[in-house]
Amino acid sequence: MERAWWKEAIGYEIYPKSFKDTNGDGIGDLKGIMEKLPYLKELGIDFLWICPFYRSPMHDNGYDVADYYAIDPQFGDMEDMDALLEKAKAMGIRVIIDMVLNHTSYQHKWFQEALKDPQSKYREYYIFKESRERPSNARSCFGGSVWEPVEEGMWYYHTFDRSQPDLNWECPALRTEIYKILNYWLDKGVSGFRMDAITYIKKGASLRDAEPQGEDGLHDVADIGLNQPGIGEFLLEMRRECLDGRDAMTVAEAPGVPYEQLDEYIGEDGYFSMVFDFSYADIDLAPGGNWYNQADWSFGELKRLIFRSQESVQQQGWGAVYLENHDQSRSLNKYFRDKAAAAGDLRTRFLQSTALGTLLFGLRGTVFLYQGEELGMRNCPFASCQELDDVNSLDQYRRAIEAGCTEAEAMKFVNDRSRDNSRTPFPWTGEKNAGFSEHRPWLKVNPDYEENNAEKQQKETDSILHYYQKLIRLRKENKESLVYGRIEENEMGEETVISFFRRPEEGPDIAVYVNLGDQSCLVQAEKGRCLCGNYGEARWEKEKLVLRPYEAVMVEM
Ligand code: GLC
Ligand code: CA
Repeated sequence: MERAWWKEAIGYEIYPKSFKDTNGDGIGDLKGIMEKLPYLKELGIDFLWICPFYRSPMHDNGYDVADYYAIDPQFGDMEDMDALLEKAKAMGIRVIIDMVLNHTSYQHKWFQEALKDPQSKYREYYIFKESRERPSNARSCFGGSVWEPVEEGMWYYHTFDRSQPDLNWECPALRTEIYKILNYWLDKGVSGFRMDAITYIKKGASLRDAEPQGEDGLHDVADIGLNQPGIGEFLLEMRRECLDGRDAMTVAEAPGVPYEQLDEYIGEDGYFSMVFDFSYADIDLAPGGNWYNQADWSFGELKRLIFRSQESVQQQGWGAVYLENHDQSRSLNKYFRDKAAAAGDLRTRFLQSTALGTLLFGLRGTVFLYQGEELGMRNCPFASCQELDDVNSLDQYRRAIEAGCTEAEAMKFVNDRSRDNSRTPFPWTGEKNAGFSEHRPWLKVNPDYEENNAEKQQKETDSILHYYQKLIRLRKENKESLVYGRIEENEMGEETVISFFRRPEEGPDIAVYVNLGDQSCLVQAEKGRCLCGNYGEARWEKEKLVLRPYEAVMVEM
């Protein structure tokens, strides 16, 4: 197994708007990230993935870029960015940034020029189509058609919001611009990129009509717009032009890539260092992309999805593992559903969060934590749409109502799935606005911040935060097994127990046992040295290991 810094490193995703505000406008900023580097260092983080901070009208919180070379004033300026990169480097923390290359903001000067003048060379940069009728019936990810009319008989294409027109990768001049952007940031000192929505860049089936899927006569673009034949040529060219010969990593948001094709994406000479797999992150959603259509799933199915993902990736290359990100609800609520710790129940919260953490840090692949996950943050109760910000959540609310849900039902589905759940301001302290800002924050603070915040967990030695620190330490001390070792499922009869071995080429194996259920059980297990456990020492009864509710242990054999 070839070694690389990014295989051993622990990543931490930062949503800059919600991390730390330093100038009192209620919005997190780059100086705020800089201020909190010591916190991240103490946690044991090796690299940050910073979500978009480029100039943007913020219809999709920066995933609508108006200028790839400028910092949005609400986050600071280029000097702040340079200072952040420098300080992080001095502390041994690398930075990777989010690259949104499937689309820009409609405010990007390329799009504005293209709109102004049909003869402009920038028309070629986007997907304009002349047609009397709507050119196809694909439904955009945030609702409505992917086609937006601009003038009589002229349309442009957008996979996401109408404020996010898709780029036309078929245009060589556009590709040259994209490579220039990537090289600019690499030269500035970033260590790589998270590639946003990258499997959408090649258009194919979504340009033609498809079988209507619902009342609106549309067909979900996620079914017909992803990973289209020919995408590899673009991705390989991008790698050649920007990444080959550099010590940088790339992690692609890559839904729509079947496991059989993973080799092209992450194999030797693959397009990327690793990809994010959505199979178990989206376990709670039924196909079709509507949040009101929740899937009924079991821990058995979760296990199957996790191991299928782990084994496929292991055969082909390297993976990225995560339980949370800025598009997901909090893992505590997702995986424990109505059993998720209620406000005030700190003991259950500790057990559930550390059970998930032990699972995550046991898996094979580069671990990505999302801000607040290390504190066991829960979903935020949003009372109404007025409290929401996310375009996707507002659209999903509308869709639920259209499908016949009552307002209360629609709000429940949105509360379960809203991307705003993970975007609430980081709870630094129990003080006003959770110590995030002097000013009223741009998005509601999770109301449980007095009982659950970073300062409190730093002080309490048996906190979730300290447990995560320990998991990170363990992963580093046991690199041969926990990073480079093979993973092998340890099949056992218990539905609620996820168990596996990490087997290094040399040295002792590590066994991981995680009970996601709220009942105790006894499992067959070889005795060994307990490396960590959320109940303290592991408890054996004769030849069996006792797993109490939400108990998780790692054992060196
Ligand atoms: C990705 C991002 C998401 C964004 C979308 C459009 O899925 O993670 O936050 O809304 O792309 O750029
Ligand atoms: Ca600010």
